[in-house]
Amino acid sequence: MKQVFGVLGDPIAHSISPVMHNAAFEALGMDCTYHAFRVEKQNLGDAIKGAKAMGFGGLNLTVPLKENAIGLIETDPLAARIGAVNTIDFKDGIKGYNTDGIGARKTLEDAGVDIEDKNVLVLGAGGAARAIAFTFTEAGAKVNIANRTPERAMTLAAEVGKVNGFGLDVLDRCLEDTDILINTTTVGMDPNIGDCIVNAEQMHSDLTVFDIVYNPLKTRLLQEAEAAGATPVTGIMMLVYQGAEAFRIWTGVEPPVDVMKKAAMEALRL
Ligand code: ATR
Repeated sequence: MKQVFGVLGDPIAHSISPVMHNAAFEALGMDCTYHAFRVEKQNLGDAIKGAKAMGFGGLNLTVPLKENAIGLIETDPLAARIGAVNTIDFKDGIKGYNTDGIGARKTLEDAGVDIEDKNVLVLGAGGAARAIAFTFTEAGAKVNIANRTPERAMTLAAEVGKVNGFGLDVLDRCLEDTDILINTTTVGMDPNIGDCIVNAEQMHSDLTVFDIVYNPLKTRLLQEAEAAGATPVTGIMMLVYQGAEAFRIWTGVEPPVDVMKKAAMEALRL
């Protein structure tokens, strides 16, 4: 009998996790299947316990459930600090992980960018920024956080520790010393494809600019990066790698990243 995996969210219809994971299972000849389930917040605990009881291999959680899992299940220390779970494993009880930050780290690694001791400027202070700020700080990067609402950046910075948080008004000064700029906001996402927070004049050619927005693949921010002679990194691999790392946690098998990327690109028509 096939082992079942799934993603829980609300809404969930547009999740591309099923195509990504099913392509991976098929490519490796694994007798597994992955489905999307719409679960309302108040039913999350029952859904997780039900999946465990039915012998599911593992779960992903997406919007708006990631934060709700904290307190409901045992979480690994990084997920607990981030305050959000995107991956649940059932091998040894019920354990929650967060692979979003690792997804971002692997994306940069893939692009040949080392983050250790680098000055990283994170734009935004939402869920993705939290995952990146905690994961990158633990990996030895020096992180700054700039957000439209400065208080949110300062609160996150204080939680992470050894990190500065500020508003968008001091970006210019900070960018001079920045090695890696990461946009975690929704600015530039379709249909607002003309928008971006930092323009070419504010960038320098030694900068790596990573936009986690993948729709469109080449955002306005990445076009500005190209114009400045900086190195652009698209967001699609973060989506792929957060899934690939979940796959690794559940199965212990090396994830077929290229297969997952191809499935994701096709599903998103990129
Ligand atoms: P997520 O969990 O997906 O990261 P979120 O918590 O809604 O989403 O956070 C979205 C981030 O994008 C926030 O940092 C938000 O800034 P505020 O904290 O000031 O709301 C940022 N953001 C969204 N639209 C923006 C815009 N037009 N200009 C600048 N920042 C924007």
